[in-house]
Amino acid sequence: MDFLTMRDISKSEIEKILESAKSINEGEKIDLSGKILGTLFFESSTRTKLSFHSAAYRSKMNVIDFQTEISSMKKGESFSDTIQMLSGYCDVLAIRHFKEGAPAQAAQISNLPVINAGDGTNQHPSQTMIDLFSIKHFKGRIKGVNVTLMGDLLHARAMKSLVAGLSLFGANITLCAPKGLEFDQEYLSQLTKQNKTKFTFVESPDLSLTDVLYLCRIQKERFADSLLANQYEEKFRVDSKLLEKANEDLIILHPLPRLGELDVSVDKTEFAKYFDQARFAVPVRQAVLKHVLEVN
Ligand code: NCD
Repeated sequence: MDFLTMRDISKSEIEKILESAKSINEGEKIDLSGKILGTLFFESSTRTKLSFHSAAYRSKMNVIDFQTEISSMKKGESFSDTIQMLSGYCDVLAIRHFKEGAPAQAAQISNLPVINAGDGTNQHPSQTMIDLFSIKHFKGRIKGVNVTLMGDLLHARAMKSLVAGLSLFGANITLCAPKGLEFDQEYLSQLTKQNKTKFTFVESPDLSLTDVLYLCRIQKERFADSLLANQYEEKFRVDSKLLEKANEDLIILHPLPRLGELDVSVDKTEFAKYFDQARFAVPVRQAVLKHVLEVN
C-alpha cells in the first residue's frame, strides 16, 4: 500500500502499526531482509531521512539513497523517469518533495509502495505516526487528551497530518496560530464532518489545561517575505518562564528542527519530550515499512 496522507489509512491499521512499533521499541526484532528502501529527498532533512535509513538497517533492509544533486536529473532527466528507474531497483520508496502532490504522482508511476516523507505544505503522515505513538507512550491514550497545536498551522505539513490523526482518535484539539497562519477552514470542516471534532481556537494557550503542547517552527522557507516570518517567530516563543503555570503532567512535543519558538532552557525541564519523540522515529518507521511492505 501507499502511505501518502492520513486519509490512506484506517484507524485499525494505525492501531496495528502503533502496537507493532511498541513491540519493536521494547526490543522485538523484525526481519525485512532482502528488501531495499529507496529514499528520494528533494528537500533537506535530518530526522526523516536518517531515521528511515536507521529503521531500514535495524530491520535488516538495504538502502539506496538517491541524491538529486549528483543524479541525471542534473542533466535534465524527468521526475517521472527517475521514479521509473528507482522502481526497478528498490522494493519501497520514501519520497520528500517541495511540491505538493509529488509523492502521489510517484505512486501513480511506480508499482512499489510509496511513503510520503513530506510534500510541500501538504502532508507528512509518517511523522504523524511518530506523534501519535509519542502521545500514547506518555499519556497512555489519545482519546480525550487535551492537545494544543501551536505555530505555523498554515504551512506546516506535520501539523496538517497530525490534526487529522488526532481528530480520528478523538483528542480534544485546541489550535493556536498567529493571525494569518491558521489552518485552512475547509480542511477543518472536513474533519468535523468526518469525526465530529470540535476545535477550540485560542490566541495564547492555557497550559494549566493542556496535556500535550505540540509546537512547530514558523516555516520561513514557505514565506515570500522572510522579515515577516521573523516577526512571527518573536511573538511565538515558549520558554521556561511561560511554563511556570503549566499543568505538571504537561508534555511538549515538536517535530524538530526547533528554531526561536522553543527556547533551549525548556530542554532541562520534565516537560521536554521532543528528543524522545525524535528517537521513536526509528521503531515507528520500522513498523510503517513492515506495514506498507505487507510483511506479516
Ligand atoms: C518537519 C518537516 O520537515 O515537515 N520535520 C520533520 O520531518 N521532523 C517539520 C519542520 O520542518 O518544521
